[in-house]
Amino acid sequence: MSGTGKCTVVVGCQWGDEGKGKIVDVLAEGVDVVARYQGGANAGHTVHVGDDEFILHQIPSGILHPGKRCLLGNGVVLDVQQFFDEYDALIARGLVLDGRVGVSRRAHVLLPYHRFLDRAAESSAVEKIGTTGRGIGPAYEDKAGRRGVRVADFGNPTRLIQRVGAAMERVCLRLHELGHGADAELDGQMDQALALGERLLSLATDTGPEISRALEAGKRVLLEGAQGTALDLDHGTYPFVTSSNTTAAGAATGTGIGPTAIDAVVGVVKAYTTRVGEGPLPTGFEPEMDEHVRRLGGEFGATTGRPRRCGWFDSVLSRFAAQVNGLTGVAVTKLDVLDTLPELQIATGYRLADGSVVQDFPADTWALDSVEPVYETAPGWCEPTGDARRMSDLPINARRYLDRLEELTGAPVQWVSVGTKRAQIIPVA
Ligand code: IMP
Repeated sequence: MSGTGKCTVVVGCQWGDEGKGKIVDVLAEGVDVVARYQGGANAGHTVHVGDDEFILHQIPSGILHPGKRCLLGNGVVLDVQQFFDEYDALIARGLVLDGRVGVSRRAHVLLPYHRFLDRAAESSAVEKIGTTGRGIGPAYEDKAGRRGVRVADFGNPTRLIQRVGAAMERVCLRLHELGHGADAELDGQMDQALALGERLLSLATDTGPEISRALEAGKRVLLEGAQGTALDLDHGTYPFVTSSNTTAAGAATGTGIGPTAIDAVVGVVKAYTTRVGEGPLPTGFEPEMDEHVRRLGGEFGATTGRPRRCGWFDSVLSRFAAQVNGLTGVAVTKLDVLDTLPELQIATGYRLADGSVVQDFPADTWALDSVEPVYETAPGWCEPTGDARRMSDLPINARRYLDRLEELTGAPVQWVSVGTKRAQIIPVA
């Protein structure tokens, strides 16, 4: 598909929930391999195929195209129970998965105690992050602390028992410190998770060499990011971030290929902004408008069902995303959600407390709480766009809005999504 390369990263440019699942689904048609490179079951990629809705948490969205190979790279923290629940649910819905899913031997396994720790830490934290409760932070802490369990460890039961036993001792102490006893429920879930080891090993692969060989053989590869740029552990609104590198560079480390193998980076931006969980949202709406746009856009978390906060398009963030991800193109999603708004605002800068205006996304997360966005006003189009299939089908004000987003972001708009269905996409020539 034009606009993509041999090896293309699809990355979120805001706080996640940009509609990456839909864009990956559309682009997956033209590739042979789709790989996730970070995150875990905190992601929730919603894809509509015909009248069916699929919400994928760990398996790449490419799975909905028959015959595509779908990989979970070493950068993923794999929740083994949730993974097989999702895998079996797809089979139950008629998908043929034989030989189609591979899991990196180097991927860290997210075990039930990570979920327990995540929830206990959040409920006792003074400063809450608003995590998804899926155990992501504790699993990456174990990885960085060099005490994690990897897929490969399931091939050596003695080592596995030793590592899990040591982990359980630590976890029980920590849960106790947090005022949460470890209970029989955790033991039961651990037994279930560990019993899935054989099944997990049957899908094990080395994603780096596999992807490299596929590229050498002339195949095309899509690397599917989860969450978004502003949730990146290094570049996002720390500490209100997830615990992995969501940005495009994470695609190389998270799958085991060299960065020079990547030749295109598609950034997904929603035509407005949303955020779920704690942390600043500079362009956030006042309550009434927030409620209105949340309803128009169906802005509720695909993983937790939490209402997402909504706001105007923020080009300070999209420009930052273009820079940090090295975007070669942009896919704008949910344009149709704005169809009924008579007037739109676009943030072009932030006014700081001292009155100065900055165009760069500030590193100081707390300063972001008090910045005042500098807005320019764009006229709305007040016409439905869901049936548009070419740019020329769009109302002139919608095209002008997209032109301005492109100009401010500094990367070409290559796709515009105008609805949840596969066909509701406009490839920009
Ligand atoms: P965690 O990834 O569960 O640790 O959550 C950390 C932060 O990232 C919280 O604000 C979550 O709401 C947010 N987050 C994690 N995954 C997603 C996602 O897929 N979409 C949107 N926000 C997410």
